[in-house]
Amino acid sequence: MSNKLLLRVLSGESVERPPIWLMRQAGRYLPEYRAVRARGGSFLDLCYSPELAAEVTLQPIRRYGFDASIVFSDILVVADALGQSVRFEESVGPLLAPPVRQRTDLTLLKAEGAAERLQPVYETLKLLRRALPSETCLIGFAGAPWTVASYMVAGEGSRDQAAARLWAYRDPTGFSELIDLIVQVTIEYLLGQVRAGAEVLQIFDSWAGSLPEGEFQRWCIEPTKVITSAIHREFPGLPIIGFPKGAGAMYPDYALKTGITAVSLDSSMPLQFAKDRLQPHMTVQGNLDPLLLVSGGKALLQEAGRILSLMGNRRFIFNLGHGIVPETPPENVTELVQFVKNWRS
Ligand code: CP3
Repeated sequence: MSNKLLLRVLSGESVERPPIWLMRQAGRYLPEYRAVRARGGSFLDLCYSPELAAEVTLQPIRRYGFDASIVFSDILVVADALGQSVRFEESVGPLLAPPVRQRTDLTLLKAEGAAERLQPVYETLKLLRRALPSETCLIGFAGAPWTVASYMVAGEGSRDQAAARLWAYRDPTGFSELIDLIVQVTIEYLLGQVRAGAEVLQIFDSWAGSLPEGEFQRWCIEPTKVITSAIHREFPGLPIIGFPKGAGAMYPDYALKTGITAVSLDSSMPLQFAKDRLQPHMTVQGNLDPLLLVSGGKALLQEAGRILSLMGNRRFIFNLGHGIVPETPPENVTELVQFVKNWRS
């Protein structure tokens, strides 16, 4: 039996307290991250430098003792591996060129060998498996095809993913070719991460919430199911956490049909709904509002206490409803981690 709390709770065991890790636990809110980042090079250079990427992954583990570590990378490395030029512009966000807008643009992408181009991420995972404390679980991740496609089609972050949604309505066959391409690369990429030492995988579908129900089935549930089946063919039982942010009333369908092991809740999900409709079927993760980590104080611990008392005595992983934001005071994270680690059901 594993001594890793996260693996135990993902296998359905009752544990003495919920494990805690936070999405975007490595990043700009930490001065030690900004110091590494300032050594020059682009954000993607950092993702592709195994020594440095491992170092920034370990920073929040040293500082806070989280129960899990998520490899430092980005969901858009898949677009980069497919041959789009990807850069991250300070205070603008990701820029991808040229955008893939229609079926004929697909010829610009280089599917052959794409997952092999992500070798540096596998190297980072190997370094981490050696460096992490024995009780800390190592998480690998990828973006879900819909979310990655939404960036590849718009060429940037977009509020409502309109460009991808329009392509999907106008030419579903052409758009499904893009989705299938991303699915294939993502399967190889995630398998590569597990072979390199990832013990759990998380699939980020950050923009699942922009899809109406029929589109949600086709572009969110279906591709995710293809990915989880392929992973489980090679690694039966490997825990996979799905995060369909903003899926609202579609959460139960997503949780039950995609083949995931655990489901991550965004902050808008009512906990009683999750307790009644999701937790009976699987481990649930979430869903503290990241802005409470910015505000801190009484409101932070009150809400963390409410989440723990509702969800914490069954299969539950404490996390945020979305990633840590750069304005977060690091000492608020210290306070939260202490609080969760001292909590008993
Ligand atoms: O600690 C961790 O969680 C691991 C690293 C991680 C990053 N991005 C690092 C990062 C993870 C898991 C991601 C996931 C990711 N990336 C998602 C899914 C989760 C979510 O937030 O919805 C998405 C949509 C992206 C795409 C992305 N990457 C955007 C839109 C941006 C720009 C916005 C921003 O915060 O700057 C990024 C850049 C990015 N990814 C940074 C980090 C630490 C900041 C870049 C920098 O340091 O200059």
